[in-house]
Amino acid sequence: MIFDILTLFPEMFLSPLEESILGKACEEGLITVNLINIRDYAEGRHRVTDDYPYGGGKGMIMKPEPIIRGIKAIRSQHTETRVILMTPQGSPLRQEVAKRLAQLSRICLVCGRYEGVDERVRDFVHEEISIGDYVLTGGEVAALVVIDAIARLIPGVLGDKGSSEEDSFSQGLLEYPQYTRPREFEGRKVPEVLLSGDHQTIEQWRRREALRRTWERRPDLLAKTELSKEDQELFDELKGSSGTR
Ligand code: ADE
Repeated sequence: MIFDILTLFPEMFLSPLEESILGKACEEGLITVNLINIRDYAEGRHRVTDDYPYGGGKGMIMKPEPIIRGIKAIRSQHTETRVILMTPQGSPLRQEVAKRLAQLSRICLVCGRYEGVDERVRDFVHEEISIGDYVLTGGEVAALVVIDAIARLIPGVLGDKGSSEEDSFSQGLLEYPQYTRPREFEGRKVPEVLLSGDHQTIEQWRRREALRRTWERRPDLLAKTELSKEDQELFDELKGSSGTR
């Protein structure tokens, strides 16, 4: 997967892309991240990339020409590139969005700054993505979130560290509780069932706890998830024992 990042602050990407799993994925060529400075496409001696908003108002707006020139330069060389604008006005990033994007070969992430980008930039992007209902100082951190969420779905990136198929969200549920040694810490014990070695019982316990956690914390997710007959039985058991129904 190749990412082309259009940004005014390419250096913001360096350390996150050098460390840990993403660092290794870059090193092994499983992902490539090209950092492109929008300023390189700005004109004039001062290479200005922002300006005052027409109609007045606070803050500065990113000018359309440098961004659009940057997008066109990438698309002229790689027509298959999907162009995505990072903005709080975009559609929410969800696991299924990351899965869809992970199928692509090349993605260009456009990072806005200041109070936003000139509206005409929108005519040159395929989609707009928000990483959540809050406003960041710019699209860079959001773009890193998108890169991370996609990269770990690319075969080979997680290696034997784990499979993304069991993640929270990938089956529409939050993940079950996990424990490691010691067996007891300040009086808090690891659930007995996990020490039993009985894989079937452990699987069932994990599934029930995943259902419980999702029901307690994210009932909205549960409402969207189709439960198997076994899940429904576990869920009914849960509801029965909770005393609320
Ligand atoms: N830029 C600023 N805030 C953002 C957000 N929440 N998601 C994506 N891009 C952004």
